[in-house]
Amino acid sequence: MNEDEWNGAVIESLSEEWAEKIIFLPECGSTNDEAQKLALKGAADFSVVLTETQTSGRGRRGQPWTCPPGEGMACSVILRPDDPPALWSRIALATGLAVSEALDSFGCSSGVKWPNDVWINEQKVCGILVEAGDGFVVVGIGLNVNVTCFPEGLAFPATSLALEVGTPVSREDVLVACLNRLRVRVAQIGSSFPELLEAWEMRCVLRGKEVSLMEGDKLKRGTVLGLSPGGELILATSSGRESLLQASEIRVIGE
Ligand code: BTN
Repeated sequence: MNEDEWNGAVIESLSEEWAEKIIFLPECGSTNDEAQKLALKGAADFSVVLTETQTSGRGRRGQPWTCPPGEGMACSVILRPDDPPALWSRIALATGLAVSEALDSFGCSSGVKWPNDVWINEQKVCGILVEAGDGFVVVGIGLNVNVTCFPEGLAFPATSLALEVGTPVSREDVLVACLNRLRVRVAQIGSSFPELLEAWEMRCVLRGKEVSLMEGDKLKRGTVLGLSPGGELILATSSGRESLLQASEIRVIGE
């Protein structure tokens, strides 16, 4: 799909409210960088930067993120939460959950992998990069919608929505579904967080699994028990129950 089709289709299939909030860039370095620049210039809550091609798309821990033109979806959403910055780390959970819920409407059953990946059948379909600035948060979403070929040497097996459902899917419809769910879930990072957590845990792909991960320079191994009331990952390790705020990619042992 070329630039005009992407843009036109998005505008057409979005409610006026969303259409007004989307800034389409045919190509950019990273939508997260563009969104940050716009946020610093005062862009409104829920402004969205959408692109067809990123020349330096990035993932967590400085990993590159590739999004094949015409097949993937790469966008960044600017949020200006009313909630205090101490709660903004919950946006990562809210986004993963929102994307996973959005995929339901395409007949696809997905799960969330702490803190914010979306997986289908033990393969990654979506990566999320949340970056906070002064008074705003940028939520970058990279979703393999119609991707059929993946680069070699990926750290994890990858899949796409189209590969899972067996037919190409409208990227515009996926975008709208993700934005609508994101709005609902981001509104729950404050007093409604228990509701968000309950829904997140229902989709947790790691519960009960034995995993390994790096926390800083320490290798940890344990069984995932679930999430704490604050959204930390709770692990049962040989030294007892531990909760993790941040960790490297989590690997399931034996998979
Ligand atoms: C990860 O799983 O490592 C996170 C990947 C995040 C990729 C998205 S694509 C849109 C946005 N712009 C970027 O440069 N990164 C995010």
